[in-house]
Amino acid sequence: MKKILITGGAGFIGSHVVRRFVTKYPAYQIFNLDALTYAGNLENIADIEQSLNYTFIKGDIVDADFVNQLFQKHQFDGVIHLAAESHVDRSITDPLAFVKTNVIGTMNLLNAAKTIWAASFEGKRFYHVSTDEVYGSLGTTGLFTETTPYDPNSPYSASKASSDHFVRAYGETYGLPYVITNCSNNYGPNHFPEKLIPLFINNIITNKSLPVYGDGNYTRDWLYVIDHAIAIDLVFHKGHNHETYNIGGFNEWRNIDLVKLLCQKMDAKLGRASGTSEQLITYVKDRPGHDLRYAIDASKINTTLGWKPSVTFEEGLEQTIDWFLANEEWLKNVTSGEYSKYYEKQYS
Ligand code: NAD
Ligand code: DAU
Repeated sequence: MKKILITGGAGFIGSHVVRRFVTKYPAYQIFNLDALTYAGNLENIADIEQSLNYTFIKGDIVDADFVNQLFQKHQFDGVIHLAAESHVDRSITDPLAFVKTNVIGTMNLLNAAKTIWAASFEGKRFYHVSTDEVYGSLGTTGLFTETTPYDPNSPYSASKASSDHFVRAYGETYGLPYVITNCSNNYGPNHFPEKLIPLFINNIITNKSLPVYGDGNYTRDWLYVIDHAIAIDLVFHKGHNHETYNIGGFNEWRNIDLVKLLCQKMDAKLGRASGTSEQLITYVKDRPGHDLRYAIDASKINTTLGWKPSVTFEEGLEQTIDWFLANEEWLKNVTSGEYSKYYEKQYS
């Protein structure tokens, strides 16, 4: 039996990873460590909470004593680290929160793993989940590869870049067996409605304006979240130690084109006349330091591990919209309370 710690498993991507590991690997004992910040929600994983091979632990990775005791107690064989502050806009208003969780929190996990694995690294693995934003911004051409130099522009991406460097440093200095993946923009069920796609789905449902930053020409490479979870499973089991793998959707969209597509699809689903939701589009003040374009070259994980996205963007977006429409209660719950204060501050 393997004991695996997954951090951030009550969040968007983490919940899909936890579900996959709990249901696919009954012989593994899965521990989900999450602080349940505004982005963590146990409703995301309610369907698996009774599983015999699953344990939820509420706790903060910034608390070194707590993390050390947890590792001593459970003697994990593997760590899949997703817990993070993840929203670029929030990193602009509160950068220190990102240093604490993304840098110090990662350091605490690295130190705890190094300590309990001191006798032997055999069969152990520290998997650090990172982002393509560490590479900075592309111009109108080119793709991020695993050897693209780091050039982060936001406090969020700087904190993720820093944590990536520490993970690599622990590999080089202490021999810690690690893998890192840098993934492009995810979308799908359970996505918190502060990010572009779920925010705009929620605003279309509730007839609120759709705040497009700047001229809307910024470009992102979108990947369905379950395909990210599949890639994480593959890299965790088949990836090579001390290697980095880029994960992407082969799926670039200019924001404004994506927003218009979403409007058309939502009009059809909601039985509204075509063109209704597009009238909600409002161009607003740009994000400071806004990266123009992200696009991943995912050929390494494709050729070495055989991964590629399993759904088209068309299919993934349909499934995502259907999920949000079928889960309006979930949306209402996560947009009540604190959310409205955040929204007011960000968009007023
Ligand atoms: P999210 O914000 O939805 O979830 C983060 C989770 O971490 C939440 O459940 C939260 O409660 C938990 N958490 C936050 N601070 C914590 C702390 N101090 N201690 C313990 N738990 C804490 O994030 P996400 O979008 O699911 O992203 C997960 C990971 O994937 C992050 O590391 C992010 O950088 C990375 N990533 C995200 C994307 C994306 O498009 N969302 C793309 C590439 C990589
Ligand atoms: O690339 C991977 C990254 O993708 C992850 O590491 C981050 O955790 C995740 O949040 C995401 O970052 P982005 O900044 O690209 O995602 P976001 O959904 O915030 O924004 C996508 C694009 O849409 C970006 O160009 C900004 C724009 N945008 C966003 C919001 C929230 C708007 O135009 N209006 C908005 O209200």
